[in-house]
Parts: sequence; structure tokens; C-alpha cells
Amino acid sequence: MKKRIGIITSGGDCAGLNATIRAIVHCAKLKYDWDVLGIARGGQGLMGEVDYRDLQVDFDGIDHMMLQMGGTILGTTTKGDPLAFKMPNGEVVDRSSEMARNYHALNLSGLIITGGDGSFKLMSEVARRGDMKIIGIPKTIDNDIGLTEALGFQTAVSVATEALDRLQPTAASHNRVMVLEVMGRDAGHIALNSGIAGGADIVLIPEIPFEMESVTNKIKSIMKTGRTFALIVVSESAKPKGGDALMVQYRDGSSRYGGIGNFLGAELNKIMDIETRVTVLGHVQRGGQPVAQDRVYAAAFGVRAVELLAEGKQNRMVAWRDREIIDVSIADAIATYQNVDLNGPLVRTARGLGICLGD
Ligand code: F6P
Repeated sequence: MKKRIGIITSGGDCAGLNATIRAIVHCAKLKYDWDVLGIARGGQGLMGEVDYRDLQVDFDGIDHMMLQMGGTILGTTTKGDPLAFKMPNGEVVDRSSEMARNYHALNLSGLIITGGDGSFKLMSEVARRGDMKIIGIPKTIDNDIGLTEALGFQTAVSVATEALDRLQPTAASHNRVMVLEVMGRDAGHIALNSGIAGGADIVLIPEIPFEMESVTNKIKSIMKTGRTFALIVVSESAKPKGGDALMVQYRDGSSRYGGIGNFLGAELNKIMDIETRVTVLGHVQRGGQPVAQDRVYAAAFGVRAVELLAEGKQNRMVAWRDREIIDVSIADAIATYQNVDLNGPLVRTARGLGICLGD
């Protein structure tokens, strides 16, 4: 029987997941002649009755589309901790042994998981208990996984930059302050990168709690030069000095960052005599076509992940660092959270450009 490996796309989606699936299938089939099973719904396809698809190189005629398609053909979820899974009747069940049983029943000799630190933490434990071999591929638009660049981030930055490019002419035409709220969870990478690329005047990130006065002073100083508009990028988890980040609560009890853009817009409308409008970019940062750099990461990560399994490795995460594809232990990657370095090159660049960071 041919060797078989599985793929799980886990956690929030991002651009480049389908390109990664494609790379894994190409490498596994063409270099090693292995079969590849795509496990459905972020790994839940290993719970209960197995749910997977046998992936072929031509992907039913959509091989090239796989490079361009947002989302994941395998489906994913941010819900359902396998170690404490909430069943429809409300009971909380450990489903890790079910997943391991199905992994072995499918005769898998390895499982490649695209995920962030949350997915890696859970799946490492499931794998440890169930004697499963896993290899991680880092993906998150937040780019907050340590020791690597993550898949999806470049596309998110590109979408946010394009939003600024589109907001600038309308801001200039109407003499307005435009506030753009972007995602990023606890890291300000999307805001800082897009703010620099898109010519923002003010960039507010969670790593630097902001003072309203600093924001208004910057707008006033712009107006003094004769310019009648300003662009602000704010991270979803940015917070005023001494305050907390704003959250949105959901019916299922979960919460997400959100609301700071509108809060800021309302404050500016109160304090300043200039019209302000707010755009909350949201999930458009995650969907759509991956930019070329994310496709390159997808290819490099996918191929190296398969090679690692061929080398008999496990519990490793592929990583892109210093123009090289390397692998690190999943435990080390989880332990190394990467938010914006306040002494790093981009904060220095922003300050050098005169961008106000709210402090
Ligand atoms: O981690 C990716 C991310 O898009 C964050 O930037 C954002 O805070 C969160 O996920 C949104 O989660 P959901 O898709 O569950 O609304």
C-alpha cells in the first residue's frame, strides 16, 4: 500500500491556504508517490465518522485556480477544542482519542497542519496522546507566530494598503479624517506595515497605548501645513493609555476585538472641527487572492513540510527566516510570540517618516 499523509487547515482562514494544499499534494505525489488525504473542517473530519477527500494533483481541473483561490477547500473552524469539545447536547467531551483512532485507521504516516499557535498547541497534545506525527505550517494574517513569517500576512497588508490608497483621494476631496480599523489581534503588524505602505499620518497599535491628545495634535499640525485631510490606521486591539481594548461579545459566549475605529471616529468628531469617517476592514483582509509572496511561502512551506515527513521528522514547524526555509520545534514556535518590536526597524521607520504612533 502506498504511503498516505493527511492535511488539516486549522483555525481562521487566510489567503494562501489552497496554494499550500496544492504544494503539499504536488510534492507528495510527484516527488514521493504518496497519497494525500484532505481532512475536512479544520480537523473535525477526524472526529466521529471520518470526513476527508482524496486529493489529486489536477484537483478536478482546478489545479491553477488553487494558487489564486482564497479560503480553504477543506473548510476550517476556530471552534471545537478537541480536548474539551462541546457536544450539541452541551456535554464537554475529550475527542482526542477519536482523532487518533481515525488517523491510524486511515493509515496516515503523518499529518500536516496549517495553523497558528492555538491550533498548534491543541494538535500537539492530540498528537502526543495518540502517537500521531505532525508537522506545522504557520499561517495567520496577524503574523504573530514566533521564529517565522506567516502565510496570509502579506495579503492582509496588501488589502489594507489598497484600502488606504482608496481612502486617500476621498479624504482629500472632502477634507476629512479617515480612520481605518484593521485586524491583527494582539499584534500591530498589519497596521504598522500598511500604515507605512499606504502613507498614513497616524498609526495606532496595541503595543503603544495612545494618548488622544497626541492624535489630535498630529491632525492639527497637518492642518497647519495647509493639508486638509488625514489618514489614521488603527489596530483592532489598540487602546488608549490607561484604558482597555474594546471587544465585541457573541451569542456563543466568545468575544473578538472590535469597536476602536468607531470609538476613535466619535471622539475626533466630538473634539475636533473636522469631519471624520470610519472604515472597518474586517474579513476582507483574510479572503481573496493571495499576493505573490504568500503563494511563494505557500509553496516553500508545503514542499518542506512534506520533505520533513519524508525525513522522519515530527513536531516541527516549517519557518521562513532570513530568506531561508528552515524548521523549528513546534514547542519553540508556540513559546515565542512575536508582536511589534518597539525598537525594531518598522517602528524606527515610522517615526523617521513623522508618522504619529499615538505616544
Ligand atoms: O487571527 C486572525 C483574525 O482575523 C484576527 O485578526 C481577528 O481578531 C480574528 O481572527 C477574527 O476572528 P473571527 O474570524 O472568528 O471573527
